[in-house]
Amino acid sequence: MEKKYYIETYGCQMNVHDSEKLAGILSKLGYEASPNEHNADLVLLNTCSVREKAAQKVFTRLGQLKKLKTGKPGMAIGVCGCLAQQEKDLFFKGRPYVDLVFGPKNISELPALLEELQRERKQLLALSGPRQEPTFEVDTVMRDVPYKAYITIMEGCDKFCSFCVVPFLRGREISRDPHSIMEEARRLADLGYVEICLLGQNVNSYRHENFDFAELLMSLHEIPDIRRLRYTSPHPTDINQKVMDLYGSLPKLCNNLHLPLQAGSNEVLRRMKRDYSREDYLQKVEYIRKRCPEIALSSDIIVGFPGETRDDFDATMDVVRQVEYSGVFSFKYSQRPFTSALKLEDDVSEEEKGDRLAVLQETQREIQVRLNQAKIGTTQEVLVENHSRKDAEMLMGRTTCNRSVNFEGSAELLGKFVQVYITSAGPNSLVGERWPSGRH
Ligand code: 5AD
Ligand code: SF4
Repeated sequence: MEKKYYIETYGCQMNVHDSEKLAGILSKLGYEASPNEHNADLVLLNTCSVREKAAQKVFTRLGQLKKLKTGKPGMAIGVCGCLAQQEKDLFFKGRPYVDLVFGPKNISELPALLEELQRERKQLLALSGPRQEPTFEVDTVMRDVPYKAYITIMEGCDKFCSFCVVPFLRGREISRDPHSIMEEARRLADLGYVEICLLGQNVNSYRHENFDFAELLMSLHEIPDIRRLRYTSPHPTDINQKVMDLYGSLPKLCNNLHLPLQAGSNEVLRRMKRDYSREDYLQKVEYIRKRCPEIALSSDIIVGFPGETRDDFDATMDVVRQVEYSGVFSFKYSQRPFTSALKLEDDVSEEEKGDRLAVLQETQREIQVRLNQAKIGTTQEVLVENHSRKDAEMLMGRTTCNRSVNFEGSAELLGKFVQVYITSAGPNSLVGERWPSGRH
C-alpha cells in the first residue's frame, strides 16, 4: 500500500510554494496526498515565525499530533520552514515524537532524510547557513490551480527591518539565474498556465549580475501564452523608476500591487528601519496611480510598534484613508527573536494594540465595501480559477486587480478568461453574471 502524506502550511506565499515543492518531492517518492493527518504516515508542519501568534499555533498543533502518534507509532512527524530554522534542535527537547526538523533551504534533502529515518529511527536535523543557495526548483511541483503558478525568483532579505525575523531565518538575498526562471516560465506556459506570480521575500530587489527586476518582468512579458504577471512581496524602496514605468506600459502586468506600508508616521518608520518616509511612499503611490488609475493597492500594517503614540497611529490611519487600499493585512506588533526592535521597550499595552487594530480593520472594511460597490454595473474580465467555496454551482474567478468574483457557470469555463457583469459586492468579493448572458 502506498504511503500517505499530509502537509500543513503556515504563513506567507513563499511557504505555500515550498509546500507545493515538498508535495512534488513526496509524490515522486511514491507518496499519496491525504486530506488530513489521521491516515497519514508522514505529517509535515511547514511553519512560520514572523509573528508570535503564528509560532504559537505550531506548538499547539504539535501537542495534538503527539496524541495521534501515541496510537500510531509508525507515523513520522516533521517540522520545516522558518520556525524550524529558528528553534533548531530545541524542537526535539521534550518532544521525542518529532522525527525531522529541517529549514526552508533544506527542502531538497527530504528524500535523503526519509531514507535515513527508515534505516534508523532517530531524530534528524537538517539546517543551512545564511548564504546557502536555496531550493529554487524541484523536478515535480504539485500546484493547486492548473492555470496560475508561483515561481520563486529570489530568497532571503538584506533589509533588516527592526521588527522582522525573516533575514535571520531565510538568510541573505540570493537571486536566481534568469535563464532558469525563463525556462520554468516557458515550461509552465506549455503546460497551460496563463498566470504567473513571482515570489521572493523582497521580490523587487531581484538582481542577477546586471539583469534587474524590471528586465525580468519585460522578458517574461514576451512569453506569448502567459497572459498575466504578478509579484509579491515588494519593498517600497525598491519600487524604482524603471519598475514604476512598467505600469501602464506592460499590458500583462496586473493592476494590483501589494505595497507594505507598515506605518504612516515618519518617526515610527525610522525606528522600524524602513528607509522610506511617508512622503516617499505617497509620492510613489501617486506616480503609479497616474500611470495606471485602475490599480488596486494592498498593504501590510503593524499597530502598536514600540513608542507608537496615538498621533503616530492617526498618521497611519490618515494614509489608509488617503490611499484607499483594496485590502490590508494588519497585525499587532509582537517581539521576535534576534530582531533589533527587541532593544526598544514593547510599551503599547495589549489592550491599546487591540483597540488600534479594531479601528484600522473597521475603517478598512468600509473602504473595501465602497471600492467594491463602485464596481457594480461594470463588466470585468476574470480568469476562472475554481468552483466557489460556498456553492458548487458557482465559479470563482479573479480580476486583474485580484478581486474575487463569484458567478454561475459550469466546469468547462475553468482556466478561461470570461467577462462578468457585476451585480453586487461585499467587503471581500464581487458577485456577477456571465456577460453576455441571455438576459442582457
Ligand atoms: N510583529 C507584527 N507584525 C510583524 N510582521 C513582521 N514582523 C512582525 C512583528 N514582529 C508583519 C509585517 C510584514 C508581515 C509579513 O508581517 O507587516 O509585512
Ligand atoms: Fe522582513 Fe523587512 Fe525583509 Fe520584509 S523587507 S522580509 S519586513 S526585513
